Amino acid sequence: MKNIYIIANWKMQLNLKESIDLFNNIKQKFSHSEDVETVICPSYISLPDINRCKGGSKIRLGAQDVFWEDVGAYTGEISCEMLKDVGCNYTIIGHSDRRKYFKESDEMAHYKLRTVLKNSLVPIVCVGETFQERQEGKKEYAVISQITKAMSGIDLLGTEEIIVAYEPIWVIGSGRAINAEEAEYMHQVIKQALIDIFPVDITEKCFRIIYGGSINQTNIKTFLVQPNIKGVLVGGASLNPDEFLGIVSEAKREKCY
Ligand code: PGA
Repeated sequence: MKNIYIIANWKMQLNLKESIDLFNNIKQKFSHSEDVETVICPSYISLPDINRCKGGSKIRLGAQDVFWEDVGAYTGEISCEMLKDVGCNYTIIGHSDRRKYFKESDEMAHYKLRTVLKNSLVPIVCVGETFQERQEGKKEYAVISQITKAMSGIDLLGTEEIIVAYEPIWVIGSGRAINAEEAEYMHQVIKQALIDIFPVDITEKCFRIIYGGSINQTNIKTFLVQPNIKGVLVGGASLNPDEFLGIVSEAKREKCY
């Protein structure tokens, strides 16, 4: 696995032309570093064109979601194989937008995780508490429960790569990230939850935990200096090429030198 992951989630924000233009803009000024993996998750419909534009660039592609079956009569769904056909190496699973608007459950995240690993894609499994859960003192419980339900029963050999994105739901898109120490504490909680399921050495080898929620090029530093925060999932700020490239540059500076 890489040291640091910078993952852009473009959600449903851009049409095809805007997606291609943004990708080309980022690609032009992008400089790769072995320690930092940069992943862009555009809309499904823009993936084939963006894959063609990508050429030899080291920017990786991911999907925003995937279905848990490999093939069949599942109207509207997209399989792992289809994602691989258009150049994806990664896919997000269980983003809070999916949980909120499509009632996606932890069980669905579990099925998706199984299928994604079987198909050798790298899953980015999203977890995080609501504002109410936080106010009721249940943020640890909420996140441990999501991790346990998604991960239990998965057999890992030690060669798999799994990214867990901790995203406090109430902070997403708010423009105000939580403070980095609180995020670090929640990363420790997640790590412990993983160690309760998998052997310690497998957990160390196979997992990276990253933070998401109102990250920008100014606040990213405070997160990446935390020992357990191994990257960021970026929504809004990833739609501005200079801002996103600023985030990538900060990641290289913080963790590589
Ligand atoms: P944000 O989104 O950076 O706009 O808060 C993060 C996400 O939804 O993954």
